[in-house]
Parts: sequence; structure tokens; C-alpha cells
Amino acid sequence: MAVRLAIVGPGRVGTAFGLAAVAAGVDLLGFVGRSPAAVQSALRLCGRGRALHLPDLTAAHVVVFAVGDGELPAVLAAALAAGAARPCALWLHTSGRFGLEVLATAAAAGLRIGGLHPVVPFADAEQGRAAMRGAPGVLLPGPGSEGLLRTLAAHCGLVPVVMHGGDRALYHAACALAANGLTALRAAVDAVFAAAGGLAPAAAAGLASSLMRNALQACDELGPVAALSGPVRRGDAGTVVAHVETLAANVPAALPVYRALMAAAVALAEQAGLGAEPAAALRARLAAPAAGGVPPQTGLPSPAALPPPAGGFPPPSSD
Ligand SMILES: NC(=O)c1ccc[n+]([C@@H]2O[C@H](COP(=O)([O-])OP(=O)(O)OC[C@H]3O[C@@H](n4cnc5c(N)ncnc54)[C@H](OP(=O)(O)O)[C@@H]3O)[C@@H](O)[C@H]2O)c1
Repeated sequence: MAVRLAIVGPGRVGTAFGLAAVAAGVDLLGFVGRSPAAVQSALRLCGRGRALHLPDLTAAHVVVFAVGDGELPAVLAAALAAGAARPCALWLHTSGRFGLEVLATAAAAGLRIGGLHPVVPFADAEQGRAAMRGAPGVLLPGPGSEGLLRTLAAHCGLVPVVMHGGDRALYHAACALAANGLTALRAAVDAVFAAAGGLAPAAAAGLASSLMRNALQACDELGPVAALSGPVRRGDAGTVVAHVETLAANVPAALPVYRALMAAAVALAEQAGLGAEPAAALRARLAAPAAGGVPPQTGLPSPAALPPPAGGFPPPSSD
């Protein structure tokens, strides 16, 4: 008998799970949603199942809870209150923020519990479904649930990674930095290239992609300390000041991003061998208000008085 699956939360992740399950031959019963339009849209995409209500979940062997993190505890409580617990069924969530503790009441009600966090940014359901193939899926197995979690991960094309304990909020903060932080950084990079001018948009996008991919590859191969390059690694305070001044004048929204990330780069540069004196000079430049009066917003200490950087203001480095 095919596994009967129900999904609570017809959003990006829930619908992507539905698409993967249907392709794998799982019997998708349907979706429980808050808005009928979202449920209908998920059903249309998946081509199977029907609109479900919480009591219908008793028919499912596996229930995937893919609602927002803020809603998850209340939705689980509502499902239990609706008498939706089928003994020995597996209830799992897709949240990065929560561990198994959020499912403790479900376990006490005789359900198997687990987590399957696809470590993938889901811009929408179809893009996310494609991106899951070959990406990691972090499993949180409860008693007796690891085999089924692995099967579900395989249906989605996810490579299973088991997480035992650990600080889930920190884990999720790392995921958000890696995915959403990189997206925000890319938007800032695009804005600064656009303000610089002289490049066709496609060419500028190509430069951004190439630099970011190569930097990431160097981090993978060498680790971030050895991978760091550029003016901060060289202790070139003059170039850093030139960057701060032109960003303050032309793209002020990107300046806090630049200041925060270059301050983090100074710490890496020190680990890579940059001396204490040039490191202090860089920190001072990054903490100083720009000539146009844009103050730092990084929480860095403000220097009392800043001598001009050694060597004046050389042209910016290309890396
Ligand atoms: N997005 C990602 O990149 C990503 C990656 C990995 C894991 N996750 C995790 O996956 C989960 C879902 O994220 P998502 O991005 O798919 O969110 P989403 O697109 O906002 O989808 C959440 C869905 O849950 C529905 N919902 C909210 N409250 C509900 C309730 N009481 N009953 C039934 N349905 C309800 C929402 O309905 P409405 O349409 O009415 O809002 C929406 O359709 C989260 O735990 C998230 O952390 C997300």
C-alpha cells in the first residue's frame, strides 16, 4: 500500500514537498491551508489530492507540517485538539528553527515525530522542488522515524544529514546568514555596480556572480582565513577610506553592509597574519563617519582622532 501523505501549509515548501511526493508515487491526500486560494493553487500544481481539514489528517500515514515558524506550535496544538492523531503515524515539520520539542505533545499522543529541514532557499514551489535535488536535508529523527524520514528525503532528492541535539536557533541563524545574507549581499553588490556605471547590466551581473562563486570556492578549498584577499587583507586603509567615501556619496544604503562585512574581514585578516597596527587603522577608518557625514551603524567604537592614512588615497583595488 502506498504511503498516504497529507500536508499542512500549502506554501512554497509544502507545495514543493507535494510535487516531489506525487512524482515519487506517494499517495498525496491533499493540503490543509488557511486560505482556500492557496490550497487550490497547490492542488493545481501537484495535480492530486483535495482540500483537507484538520480532522482529515487521521487518514494519513505521514503528515508534513510546512506552515511558518510563527504558526507551527499553534497549528500542531489545533491538529491534536481536532483529534487528528492517527496512532503511529509520522508527524514531521520542515522548520529550521524548531527541534523536536515542538512535537512533544504529539509524541505523548502516540505519534511518531521528526523533522526534515530542506537546506535550500525556496523562492517558490517549483524552483524549490528543483533545487532540492542533490541539496542537503537535515533530519531530526524521533524514536522509530528515521527510516521513513530517509525515504521522504530520498523522494525529494535530498541528501540526508542527521542532526543530534545542538542549538536549533543558532543552526537556523547560520542557515539564514548563508542563504538570505548572501541574497541581500548580492542585491547590494548589484546596486553598487549599477551606481559605478560603465558596464552593461548583464556584464556587471556576470562580474558579481563570478566573484561570489570564486570567493565561495576558495572558502571551500582553503577555509575563510586563507581565502580572504583584497584591501583589508593587505592592510590598505587608504583604499578602504576611498570605498567608504564613495559609498557614502553615491550608495549610502550599501555603506552599513560594507562597514559590517569589512569589519568582519579585518578579524579574518588578523588571523591570516595582518599586524595589530594596520588592523587597528582599518577598524578606525571603518568606524569613522564618512566625509559626507554618514555615521557608522555597525556598533564599532568611534576613534578619537584619525591621522590621514599612510600613502594617501590610492585608487581602489580590483578584488
Ligand atoms: N522558504 C524557505 O526557503 C524554507 C526553506 C527551508 C525550510 N523552510 C521552512 O518551511 C516552513 C514553511 O515555509 P514556507 O517558506 O513554505 O512558508 P510560506 O510560503 O509562507 O507557506 C506557509 C503556508 O502555511 C500556511 N498557513 C499558515 N498558517 C496556517 C494554518 N493555521 N493552517 C494551515 N495553513 C497555514 C500559509 O497560509 P497563507 O497562504 O494563508 O499565508 C502558507 O500557505 C517554515 O517552517 C520554514 O522555516 C522554509
